[in-house]
Amino acid sequence: MRTVSSVIDGNQVPGGRTAASHNPARLDEVVGEVILAEAATFVRAAASAKKAQESWASVPAPVRGRAIAGIGRLIEVNAEALAHLVTTEIGKPYAEALGEVREIVDTCDFFLGEGRRLYGQTVPSEMPDKQLFTFRRPVGAVAVVTAGNFPVAVPAWYIVPALLAGNTVVWKPAEYSAVCSAAFHDLFVRGAGLPDGVFNVVHADGASTFAGLSEALEQGLVDKVGFTGSSPVGAEIGALTGRHLQTACLELGGKNPLLVTPSADLDLAVEGALFSGFGTAGQRCTSLGTVIVHESVHAEFLARFTAAVAAARVGDPAQDVLMGPLLDEKFATRYEEYLGWIQPRHDVRGAAGRITADNPRDGFVGDADAGLFYHPVVVDGVRPGDRIFDEETFGPLVGVTTYGTLNEAIELANAPGYGLSSAIYTTDPKEAFTFRDKIGAGMVSINNSTSGAEAHLPFGGNGKSGNGSRQSGIWVLDQFTRWQAVNWDYSGRLQKAQMDVAELAGEPDFRLP
Ligand code: UN1
Repeated sequence: MRTVSSVIDGNQVPGGRTAASHNPARLDEVVGEVILAEAATFVRAAASAKKAQESWASVPAPVRGRAIAGIGRLIEVNAEALAHLVTTEIGKPYAEALGEVREIVDTCDFFLGEGRRLYGQTVPSEMPDKQLFTFRRPVGAVAVVTAGNFPVAVPAWYIVPALLAGNTVVWKPAEYSAVCSAAFHDLFVRGAGLPDGVFNVVHADGASTFAGLSEALEQGLVDKVGFTGSSPVGAEIGALTGRHLQTACLELGGKNPLLVTPSADLDLAVEGALFSGFGTAGQRCTSLGTVIVHESVHAEFLARFTAAVAAARVGDPAQDVLMGPLLDEKFATRYEEYLGWIQPRHDVRGAAGRITADNPRDGFVGDADAGLFYHPVVVDGVRPGDRIFDEETFGPLVGVTTYGTLNEAIELANAPGYGLSSAIYTTDPKEAFTFRDKIGAGMVSINNSTSGAEAHLPFGGNGKSGNGSRQSGIWVLDQFTRWQAVNWDYSGRLQKAQMDVAELAGEPDFRLP
C-alpha cells in the first residue's frame, strides 16, 4: 500500500490527517493512503509555483515542447500500469482506462509541436514605418482542481498546455483517486525533467482547497484557475475568481441529450445510448442524460435499448465489461438520492439500486457484494419539471422521453439548461443541421454518442455546463496565455493612431452611365 502526500517544490509534505482510498470493486482493498493538507499548504504550493514561473517561462518554448514529448513517451511506455491503477482505484473498466491514458498521450502529441509554433501575428499598421505584432504570454501560476472520474486524462488537458505555454502549476486532484494522481505526477516530473516548483500537487479536501485557493488569490499567488467538477462548485469558483478579476476555466456538469429521429438507424442509436449512458458507469460529464425519441419509433427503440442494457456485461472492471462500480462511496450515496427522484408515474425498466445477493443481476461478472455495483437503469416517461429530467444524475441512469416535431425535440434537449454535449441520430441532413444550429451544447455528435470527444477538438460547454471556456487543441491556449499587442514605430516621429492617417480620395458620386 502506498502513502501519498502533497509535493511542493520537489519535496513531499509529511504529516497530517490521512484518508484511505479504496478499490470500489473490492471495498476491503485499500489502494493507498493519502495525507490531506490544510489550506496553508495550498498557499505554500501556490507560492512555490509563483516563484518558479519566471524561470520556467524563460525556457525556450521549443524546449518546453520537448519536455512535453518526454512526458508523452513516458506515459506511453507506462500505459498499462497507469491504466491498471485507474481501474483499481476508481473502477473504470480496463479498456476505457487504457483509452483514458491514450488521451494523455494524444494531448502530449498535439502540444509537443506547439512548442515550435505558439504563433503570434505580424499585423500591418495604418501608418507608414510602423509595425504591429502580437505575442502569446503565459498567464503565470495556475491552480488546477479536478474530479476523479477521469483521474489522469482531464488533468492532462489542463496541465500539458499550461506547462507548454510557460505557466507553473498547483494541482489539487480528487482524494479518492490520490494514488493515480501520484503516479501521474511522478510520470510528468520524470518524463519532462521538470524543475522543482514547476508542478506542485496538493492533496486536500474541498473545504481546505477552497480556503487555500481564496487565500492564494488574495496574496496574488494564483493567476488562473482551472476547475472540472459539479456546476454548483463551479459557480462558487467562478464567483471567487471573478472577485479577483479572473475568469476560471470551468468544465462542469451535463444533462446530455440524445435524439432518436424517425430516420435513425435504431441499432446504431442503441449502441450509442448504451455506451454513453453506462460507460464509466454513467459518470462522465459527457454521459447521456435523456434519450429524446420520436413517438413513431419510441416503442421499438425502447425495446431494443432495454434488451441491450439487460444483456450488457456489468461487474469486475478488470475484465471485459461495459460497466464497473461507482467511483467511490460518496458517489454511491448521491446516486441513491437520484434514484429517489423516480416517481410512480415513471416507467422503470428492469431492476434498480445496488446489485446484491438479494437484488441480483443476471450474468454479473465477479462478486457484486464486494463493491459499489449498481443496476444500469432506464427510466421511461420523464418530462420537464421532473428532477430526473432537469438535473444531472451522475451515475448509471438514463431517462427516456418522446417528441412529435423536431422543434419540440430541440426544446426538450435545451430545457435543463446545461450545454455540454449532445447527439442526434438521423439520416436526414436537414435535421442534423437544424439540430446543430439550435442546440445549446458546446459539442454535437451526429450519429455518434454524447461521450468520447477526441482530444484535439474544443471541449467545453455553455449554460450550467461552464462559462464558455474551451479546453483542448489550439483553443485551450487562450486559457493559458494572454495576448500582448506590440507596436513598433521606426518613423522617428510621433504618428498618432486614428489622427495622422492618410486617406485616399475615391469618387463616391460616380455612377455608371
Ligand atoms: C469528463 O467526463 O470530464 O468525451 C471528460 C469524453 C471523454 C472525456 C470526458 N473524452 O467522454
